[in-house]
Amino acid sequence: MIPISRPHIGPEERAAVNEVLDSGMLVQGPRVAELEALFREKTGARHAIAICNGTAALHTALMAHGIGPGDEVITTPFTFMASVNAILFVGATPRFVDILPCCFNLDPAQIEAAITPRTRAILPVHLYGFPADMAAIQAIADRHGLAVIQDAAQAIGATYRDQPLGALGTACYSLYATKNVHSAEGGMVTTNDDAVAERCRLIRAHGSSRRYYHDTLGYNFRLSDLHAAIAIPQMRRLEEIVARRRSNAAALNAAITNPRVALPLYGAVGERCSRSATCGASGHVWHQYVVRVLGDRDGAVEKLAAAGVGSAVFYPLPAHRQKHIVERGLGNVELPVAEQAAREVLALPVHTGLSAADLAAIAAAVNTL
Ligand SMILES: Cc1ncc(COP(=O)(O)O)c(C=O)c1O
Repeated sequence: MIPISRPHIGPEERAAVNEVLDSGMLVQGPRVAELEALFREKTGARHAIAICNGTAALHTALMAHGIGPGDEVITTPFTFMASVNAILFVGATPRFVDILPCCFNLDPAQIEAAITPRTRAILPVHLYGFPADMAAIQAIADRHGLAVIQDAAQAIGATYRDQPLGALGTACYSLYATKNVHSAEGGMVTTNDDAVAERCRLIRAHGSSRRYYHDTLGYNFRLSDLHAAIAIPQMRRLEEIVARRRSNAAALNAAITNPRVALPLYGAVGERCSRSATCGASGHVWHQYVVRVLGDRDGAVEKLAAAGVGSAVFYPLPAHRQKHIVERGLGNVELPVAEQAAREVLALPVHTGLSAADLAAIAAAVNTL
């Protein structure tokens, strides 16, 4: 079976982990600092704060921006649940805005209608590794005095109008085992705001700036050096990882010809989104290569599996339809673009472990659906 994702565990990652094991410094050693420095360098942000996972990174960033009970945060319903749960963790309320059909990200044209006197922030998700339209989102945030907190969990290495995401404001990354750069679990907040960075550092370590002196309520959101060590060699190879995923996506775009399968609508690989004249989004890192199946998607999953091709549905149920969101009374919205996407999307393997023969086999299996 060609798996939907495959971790990059090679000799460098093994050696890096063994070095940490031998050092006796499993936490709060030099590897976390090294990973933070690599994130600063590669994302263009002034600060990088390592956190134990991407969900906790979002939680930390929201707290650090002062988002709390009574506040509303505008986000997308078409995301991994962590984006929404983090808003609930800080006591705020998620307000859902529908997505664009071309890139599956927040539709900036619909955001203003969802702003109320309680709105404090917009939380765009760069889904599948393709940036949301940050210029349009930032312009709305500026007009209404809102914070923007990017969920870049799937988008390490992505750029927007040639700028790395870290240059655009606070962003939260995940180093979960399937991500383009991964540990086993891990996360990072990047920001250019000195005060936000300082609060993130406090929040991740029980609110303490000096050992056993606690200035504020915080959590144990530390990343271990063992986890950091796995991600460091991959961060060093980031450009190579992104280039490989881009060329895999280009190969799939060229070889999939089945009219019952709609290809990703980002324009040529790495180019601007071709659907919207005003959208400047570009710089895809292909965390997922997602097609739309115009027909029986469950049947397609089975047929692909029978042909030895792994696939996955990210995500079958939008956030506003999830049980705990409905029970909170937050699901009473019509978001037809997200609902249609949830019925049609199918992710195919695009990871760096694929050979030319694997790519040909994936396309051949998709072409016979
Ligand atoms: C869009 C999105 N947000 C948040 C997260 C949460 O990251 P983690 O699994 O590291 O907690 C993930 C990853 O799983 C994700 O894909």
